Amino acid sequence: MMEEMIRVEGVRKAFSQQQGRLPIIEIDQWSARKGDAIALLGPSGSGKSTFLHLLGGVLPVDGGLLEIAGQQVSGMKESERDAFRAQTVGYVFQDFYLIPSLTVKENVELVMPRSMSKPLRARLIGEWFERVGLQDRMNQLPAKLSRGQQQRAAIVRAMIHCPPLVLADEPTGSLDWETASSIMKLLLDVSRENGSTLVTVTHDLHLAELFPTKLQFASLNQLLKGRAESSSDKRAMQETAAGGVSS
Ligand SMILES: Nc1ncnc2c1ncn2[C@@H]1O[C@H](COP(=O)(O)OP(=O)(O)O)[C@@H](O)[C@H]1O
Ligand SMILES: [Mg+2]
Repeated sequence: MMEEMIRVEGVRKAFSQQQGRLPIIEIDQWSARKGDAIALLGPSGSGKSTFLHLLGGVLPVDGGLLEIAGQQVSGMKESERDAFRAQTVGYVFQDFYLIPSLTVKENVELVMPRSMSKPLRARLIGEWFERVGLQDRMNQLPAKLSRGQQQRAAIVRAMIHCPPLVLADEPTGSLDWETASSIMKLLLDVSRENGSTLVTVTHDLHLAELFPTKLQFASLNQLLKGRAESSSDKRAMQETAAGGVSS
C-alpha cells in the first residue's frame, strides 16, 4: 500500500508588502510518500524556505489543503500547528541554532519529553550521539565543536523523537565540501533508518545527486513556471525530468 506523507492541493501563500500582497507560492497538486528522500532545488528567493515553513506548520497557508502524516495542517490554528510540529516534524537549519550556553547534550535534552524516565533518556541520548560519532563530545558547549560536529548534534536534536517528516533547509550551506557530503549522507541514513520522509533544500547539485528524488521548485510552484533559469538550474531540471540519478 502506498503510504502518503505529504499532500498539497491548491496551496497558496503571499506576504504583505508596502504595495500590497506579494504571492510567493501557488502549488496545484503535489504529494510525497513515507520514506521518500527529496532534494529541493531552485534559485534564491523562489520561496523554498517559505514552502518548508508551510510543510512544518511554522507559517499558515493562505488557502488550499495541506495534509502531513494524515493530519490536516491547513485547518489548524497556531497552537495546534506548534503541537503538530513538535510531534511530527524534525527541522534542520543551515546555522544549526544550538543554544550556545548549553552543552550539546543539554540542547538535545531540551526537546525530549519530560515524561521520559531519566535512565531511558540517558540511554537514548548515548545511543544517538554514538550513532553520529559524537559520544566523546556531548558534554561540551557548541562553540567547542567544529561546524560539522555542531550540525551532527543538531541532527540528533531534530531526529531523536523519530519524526515522520524531516525538513532540512540548506543544512550544509555553511560547511566545506567534505563535511557537507558527510552531513548529507548522515541525514539520508538516519532518515532511512527512522523511516522518515526527508525534504532537503540544497544549492549543491552534487549533493542533490545523493537523493533518490530531485525536485525543481519551479516545477512545483505555478508562480515560477516559464521563468528563465540559470544554466545550472536547467541542468538540474533536465535531471529531474529524466527522473534518474546520473552520477
Ligand atoms: N516573512 C516574510 N515577509 C515578507 N516577505 C517574505 C517573508 N519571508 C520571505 N519573504 C519573501 O518571499 C520570497 C521567498 O523567500 P524564501 O522562501 O526565503 O526563498 P528561498 O528560500 O527560495 O530563497 C522572497 O522574495 C522573500 O523576500
Ligand atoms: Mg531559503
